[in-house]
Formats: sequence, C-alpha cells, structure tokens
Amino acid sequence: MGEFVTVTTDDEGVATLRLDRAPVNALNSQVWVEFRDAARRVSGDDSIGAVVLWGGPKVFAAGADIKEMQTKPFQEFFARAGVLQEAFNELARLPQITIAAVNGYALGGGCELSLTADFRYAADNARFGQPEILLGVIPGAGGTQRLARLVGIQRAKEMVYAGGMYSAEESLAMGLVDKVFPAGEVYDKAVEAARRYAKGPYALRMAKKAVNEGIEMGLDEALRLETTLFTACFATEDRQIGMDSFLAEGPGKAQFVRR
Ligand code: HXC
Repeated sequence: MGEFVTVTTDDEGVATLRLDRAPVNALNSQVWVEFRDAARRVSGDDSIGAVVLWGGPKVFAAGADIKEMQTKPFQEFFARAGVLQEAFNELARLPQITIAAVNGYALGGGCELSLTADFRYAADNARFGQPEILLGVIPGAGGTQRLARLVGIQRAKEMVYAGGMYSAEESLAMGLVDKVFPAGEVYDKAVEAARRYAKGPYALRMAKKAVNEGIEMGLDEALRLETTLFTACFATEDRQIGMDSFLAEGPGKAQFVRR
C-alpha cells in the first residue's frame, strides 16, 4: 500500500486504485512510483477482474506537482521523468478493464492518468485539460499521444496548444469522456460497470489486447494478432462455458470463471 495510492478490492473482483494527496492530488514523484507499484500488483492478481481509478469526490488530479517540478534541476528531471511515463504505460497495459471515475479537475498529468483507462466516467462538475503549455512545457505522460488517438489530432492539438479547460459535456461531445453522471454518483456508477466487466470471460483480456495493441500496427499485422488472440480464446474454460450456456439456455446467461 502506498502513502498516496491505495488499492482496495471488493468481493466482486473490482479493485479501486485511489489517489489521495490533498489538496488537489498533485502527482509528485512518489505518486509516480506508487502508481507503478499499484499497476504491477493489480496486473498480477487474477482475482481482480476490473479496475476503477478514482481521485476521491473533489478532484481527480490537478497534474504533476508543479511545486516539486520547479525545484528540480534539468538533469534530475530528465533522469526521472520517464518514471511517470512508465507508470502510466503499466496502467494502460493492465489486462483488466479499467474505468476512470473523474470528479472535479483532471488536468495535465491528471487528464493523462484518466487516459490510461479503457473508459472515463465523468462527474457533471469534471473539468479536463492539458494546460502544460501555460507553464512553458508540453504534456509528458501520454497527453500528446493517447489523447490524439482518442479524440483525433485536431482536437488534441487545440487542447495541447491552447491549454484550455473542457467541461464534462464538452469532453463527452469530443469523445474524451464516455458517460456523465451527477457528481455524487460517478464512483458508484463506475464500480457498477466494473462489476459487470469483472463477471465477464477471460476473453475480455484478449479483446483489450487486440484493440490496444492492434491499433498501433498496420492492418495486416493487426489482423494476424486478432486471429492469434481469437484462437487463444479456445484454450479457455470460459469459451466452453459460454458456448455450452448459449446452446442450453440462449445468450447472455453464462457464468464465467475468468479462466
Ligand atoms: C502543485 C498545485 C497544483 C499542481 C494546484 N496546486 N495545482 N500544486 N501542483 N499541479 C496547489 C495550489 O498551488 C494551491 O496551493 C492549492 O493547490 C489549491 O490550488 P488553487 O489554485 O488555489 O485552487 P483553485 O483556484 O480551486 O484552482 C484549482 C486548479 C488550479 C484549477 C487545479 O490550481 C490549477 O490550474 N492548477 C494547475 C494545473 C496544471 O497546470 N496542471 C498541469 C501540471 S504539469 P497553496 O499552497 O497555494 O494552497 C503536468 C505535466 C505532466 O501535469 C507530465 C510530467 C512528466
């Protein structure tokens, strides 16, 4: 358990990765390491079927810790900046389905943290943005890359070049956010959805890998990856369970075991 990033699990296979660093969940270098450790712990735990990333009811994360960055000489920052990128890569590569539940600000590294998730559920008071340019820097943890892949190059350029903030509704309209809920409900809605995914088959891992890794490849190679992963599903108990259940009872009734 980290000081600022904790992992709790419920009895339905959902883990919550909770960031708690008052007042605005600024991501200092200790938080970077704690996220990396949390990702490694969750990744290797087969009892976890889905993950919710949450910054608590007030703010998701206001970005990298500017007070800490301001004190770092170039050499030190250069040596350590990769840790955040690495931590976020490990979160993005979690085999489980992940949902970021965003209350309040998700700015800079906070927006980038949300981008590591498969889905972003936003509170109606959420505000997203990549304001790094206003500090004289650029996003350094996926904001020029995951963002552009998600919302398209033009919208990403506007967010990164102008450094503005976007409401939950604006973020929904551009595809940055998947669903918007009243602020008091967003975490519960994310857990509810995560529980549904946690009941899903092992094939969900294959689906996530196929989409996320395939999109980085040329079409032929990506389709070969899809074939490989599709075929691999036949080695799972859940494939047998899913097809037996369909033939016996019709669609959607299978009780999967995530193996
Ligand atoms: C450190 C921060 C902070 C941050 C806010 N604070 N954001 N400290 N790092 N990113 C501190 C403030 O200095 C203040 O401290 C306290 O939190 C409350 O902030 P206020 O500004 O007084 O609150 P409010 O008016 O409600 O505005 C909230 C806010 C604003 C919209 C979140 O603080 C803001 O714009 N923050 C900066 C957001 C940002 O630029 N993020 C990108 C960071 S760069 P005191 O001591 O005065 O109470 C980045 C790069 C990632 O993320 C890549 C790295 C490799």
